[in-house]
Amino acid sequence: MANNILNFSLADFFYNDNPDVLGTPLDFEKWINHSDVRKSFSFFEQEILEAPRVSTRIRSKLDGKVRKVINLTSYNYLGLSTHPEVIAATKAALDKYGLGSSGAPLLSGTFDIHTEFARRLAEFKLKEDCILYSSGLGANVGAIQGIMRKGDYLILDEKCHKSLIDGGNLSGAKMLFFTHNDMKNLELMLEKAKGKRTLVVVEGVYSMDGDLPRLTEILELCEIYRAGSYIDEAHSTLIFGENGRGVAEHFGVEDRIGISFGTLSKSFGGVGGFVCSNKPLIRYLKGYSSPWNFSCAPSPAVIGGLMKALDVATRDSSLRDTLWANVNYMRNGLKGMGLNLGESESQVIPIIIGHSGEKLMGYAESMQKRGLFLQPVDFPAVPAYSRRFRISISSQLSRNEMDETLSIIEDVIIKGFR
Ligand SMILES: Cc1ncc(COP(=O)(O)O)c(C=O)c1O
Repeated sequence: MANNILNFSLADFFYNDNPDVLGTPLDFEKWINHSDVRKSFSFFEQEILEAPRVSTRIRSKLDGKVRKVINLTSYNYLGLSTHPEVIAATKAALDKYGLGSSGAPLLSGTFDIHTEFARRLAEFKLKEDCILYSSGLGANVGAIQGIMRKGDYLILDEKCHKSLIDGGNLSGAKMLFFTHNDMKNLELMLEKAKGKRTLVVVEGVYSMDGDLPRLTEILELCEIYRAGSYIDEAHSTLIFGENGRGVAEHFGVEDRIGISFGTLSKSFGGVGGFVCSNKPLIRYLKGYSSPWNFSCAPSPAVIGGLMKALDVATRDSSLRDTLWANVNYMRNGLKGMGLNLGESESQVIPIIIGHSGEKLMGYAESMQKRGLFLQPVDFPAVPAYSRRFRISISSQLSRNEMDETLSIIEDVIIKGFR
């Protein structure tokens, strides 16, 4: 093992060969304590010392130093997490309702502010009803697990988020995966599921690649095969579409989407998740969705802030417009250097480095030491041949910060300065 230790990853330690159930897999400690592996893990769980603004400070685990950095890893795409009106609304809700909901939604955790926010989200997404969860992951797991049953078929794009897969596993439905955005392969899977209750699951913006689903064609196939559709708009809500309603609005197909999911932790700047659909289905789901039924409702203080975030992001298009101007500026700058940006069409832009984990980590270290907080994305999160950085563009980036970012990336990745 010592010779090729860097070829190992967490994927190799999923199954535990230690007979002691409280022990770790036999080679795990040796692997995780190897200096190179420790170094690669030092990019993760670094402490952010201030709000997740574009300009923030972190305590770097690389050398323990506190650094002022340009933050390109946050999902605070519209800066709403620190928007003054959002903060004021959060404080007002905190004063009125206190910190927590202190109960599951079914029993004592539903406040008037939850009902109002769910109503407004349903209205925003042009659906009849909405269910709120304390996390986006919980919402995906809970919705899939609450709707799908043994004997049903769940067909997912192979690049779907883990929460959707976990929901499928819990539900007992038969899961089939189709090659990313490949309509022929999707049709093959629909043929396999023919005659069964079937739900097709895709994302609005794929989170590792920043590309979009071929939504119109996917929905056509769903209609031919009488399958339902579920779209995870985690990274597209408030960003795509003329009114910010997401990729379904962007493609003009909102009325053909069966179930629409969104998270409140990304563009909204808070935490939580929601699922919108027809009224009877949401009513039914509430009976069987454990993360709703058996878990505390979202904090009312956060809901107060989120309600204001929805207002701010939708009262005009200014934040979205600035975001898209920044996306275009950064994409042009990165493309101009000849970097491989994959198929990104969104504010999520990968810089694909390739197979070398050593290069990826070396670049990551140099960029961080120069003041760029940009996380490496390694196998198994992405295939080993396409290790990458993933840039999250924010509407808050100034021209100076973008130029500084581009110059650091050029120095480190193109010119090889360390
Ligand atoms: C596509 C997608 N869906 C769902 C989630 C889960 O959302 P949350 O982080 O709000 O729990 C994520 C989070 O990374 C995501 O990228």
